Amino acid sequence: MGIIEREFKLRIDQARAKDREAMVEINQAAAPKWHKLRHLNAALSEKRAFIAFVGRIPAGFLIWTRDFYSHYFIDLVVVHPKMRRHGVASALIHAMENECPGNKLFSSTNRSNKAMQGVFERAGFVKSGLITHLDRNDPELIYYKKVPNHGGSIKPKARSRPSHRHRKPKRKKR
Ligand SMILES: CC(C)(COP(=O)(O)OP(=O)(O)OC[C@H]1O[C@@H](n2cnc3c(N)ncnc32)[C@H](O)[C@@H]1OP(=O)(O)O)[C@@H](O)C(=O)NCCC(=O)NCCS
Repeated sequence: MGIIEREFKLRIDQARAKDREAMVEINQAAAPKWHKLRHLNAALSEKRAFIAFVGRIPAGFLIWTRDFYSHYFIDLVVVHPKMRRHGVASALIHAMENECPGNKLFSSTNRSNKAMQGVFERAGFVKSGLITHLDRNDPELIYYKKVPNHGGSIKPKARSRPSHRHRKPKRKKR
């Protein structure tokens, strides 16, 4: 691999405590105050987050839960505005799929979020429903993908809190 190719190589890791600062920065750059810090901290300590690097630069992250009717659910995907349209979100979703083989994988986004809908469609998700009354005049579209069974397993340290079985934490519109 050449020097330039290596500098731009996309890599996905399980996020660790040392990645927290970068994740906060990406989150801030994408949408200030969007995601609550304690939510991010919980995902890190429960090993429910992936981080993407382009070369050595942290570019985006993904947080998942099993709170959606006990199914795997991608709760959040955020890519730094300067790193978009390079396949970072797609790679994060692919990493998630590799970690939950043979399972139903769900996620959602607002009807107004055309970019994320494009990501889901590109990744082979299909529409699975719609929830109104979460965000005013902007329903939540549910997406689903049956993940092929090809090895790998997620073993979260602790189950994510089941208090809101099918509601995500209150957050800003996305
Ligand atoms: C949505 C988001 C995560 C996409 O990240 P990304 O790394 O740029 O996405 P990818 O490069 O993997 O895009 C894959 C495909 O999705 C579609 N897509 C992505 N962004 C798009 C956009 N702005 N408009 C239209 N289609 C888009 C395209 O088909 C794209 O493939 P292409 O670039 O070859 O055309 C990013 O824009 C983001 O962080 N937005 C703010 C946070 C957010 O809305 N998160 C989703 C809520 S969970």
